[in-house]
Amino acid sequence: MEKNNRGKFASKIGVILASAGSAVGLGNIWRFPTEAGENGGAAFILIYICCIVLFGLPVMIAEFMIGRHTHADASTAFKKLAPGKLQWHWIGPLGVVAGMMIFSFYSVVAGWTLNYTIQAGLNSFNQMDSTGSQNVFGDYFNRFIADPIWPTICLVVFILLTHYVVAKGIEKGIEHFSKIMMPTLFVLLLVLAGFALTTEGASEGLAFLFQPDFSKINSGVILSAMGQAFFSLSIGLGCLCTYASYFRPNVNLTKTAVSVAGIDTFVAIISGLIIFPAVFSVPGMEPTEGPSLVFVALPNIFRIVFADYPIIAYILPLLFYFLLVLASLTSTISMHELVTAYLHERHHLSRRKATYIVTAVCLFFGILCSLSLGIGREYTIGGMSLFDLFDYLTAKWMLPLGGLFIALFTGWQLDRKVIWEELTNKGKLSFYGFKIFMFLMKFVAPAGILLIFLDQLNVLSFS
Ligand code: TRP
Repeated sequence: MEKNNRGKFASKIGVILASAGSAVGLGNIWRFPTEAGENGGAAFILIYICCIVLFGLPVMIAEFMIGRHTHADASTAFKKLAPGKLQWHWIGPLGVVAGMMIFSFYSVVAGWTLNYTIQAGLNSFNQMDSTGSQNVFGDYFNRFIADPIWPTICLVVFILLTHYVVAKGIEKGIEHFSKIMMPTLFVLLLVLAGFALTTEGASEGLAFLFQPDFSKINSGVILSAMGQAFFSLSIGLGCLCTYASYFRPNVNLTKTAVSVAGIDTFVAIISGLIIFPAVFSVPGMEPTEGPSLVFVALPNIFRIVFADYPIIAYILPLLFYFLLVLASLTSTISMHELVTAYLHERHHLSRRKATYIVTAVCLFFGILCSLSLGIGREYTIGGMSLFDLFDYLTAKWMLPLGGLFIALFTGWQLDRKVIWEELTNKGKLSFYGFKIFMFLMKFVAPAGILLIFLDQLNVLSFS
């Protein structure tokens, strides 16, 4: 694919689904419940939603504008828009490095979902004796991730799957995929949430999700909520910039951003509605369990709800884990595409070569991340495994930092005329609230993100 012949998304719904495909993934179904559980539930969710509206939406719209206006990868885009001015184009490489780090640890978890799909196919979970010791699924999970071989194989297979789709190109690969899989996933999530709400832990789960305890809020919780908002929306590293560079001129950027953020938040809340009733239905299980939460809660919910229907107990988990693999895939595709487009367009490597390099680098770091949870457990950096370190650095620091720069760039550097043209498609759409939008972009988003950083660094002391 050459520069002046870049791929394009064919339809408007394809655009929304592909962007939502990037946004919806393990961030919603695995990371959101994990973070909400560790940070006290409802109060975290409230702050999370504020972060989506105040920082997430403006930054997402900004990424869309920059990408579509320049038709270039994130780094080239900033160079084109602000030639010679400050060093804005460093946002590109910052995003590229963060993208590779996320791709590496994310693929580890995606590999787990692949294993769970296979185990569901083999009917392993239903054969485990869950009547005696309640935590068979917890034991299984801990044994599984500590194993040096099998999780690594799953990770490699998953990264190669991503490689395959990215190598096939934009329209055919990504768009085709998202159109089928996203709606199916929604339906299944809703069905599962319906069942989860019939379990005995439902009322406790609902209270955990929706009754805020404000005494639990501190600067760490706020930083976690902001990081989760950026992570879940796929913003802060130019990923959606790159996608928007494949948008056609008639795509309504604001509407697309609002739809994507809406779908993404909806899926996160629904997965909370599935996971927390399950958590409170299993004796001894705590919401603070961390990354294992989803992988232990889900098999439990299938067991509790479908105990008397062996066929459903077989088919539904299989379908669910399979869709989770696909949802992860549409997210890793966007991370891979970000780095591939950067190497191809900015450094003029052939697309094929760029694709191979990204895959190879991420295989290397992905395997290290995977092993860091098992045989490499003793090797920690700042008390964290490589897996945790990559998650921490990217979600809590690099993404919000990228978001801060993108907001500053759009608010203070980008020509207002460009912003107006992109928001209204050169005057064809009406856009109310331009002033409010600019105010959010210039002041609210940058100042908010900065304050949260400073507070976390203990420069300020709100809490
Ligand atoms: N948002 C995705 C999820 O929730 C993960 C993701 C894809 C991402 N692309 C990204 C996160 C870019 C940060 C930046 O699963």
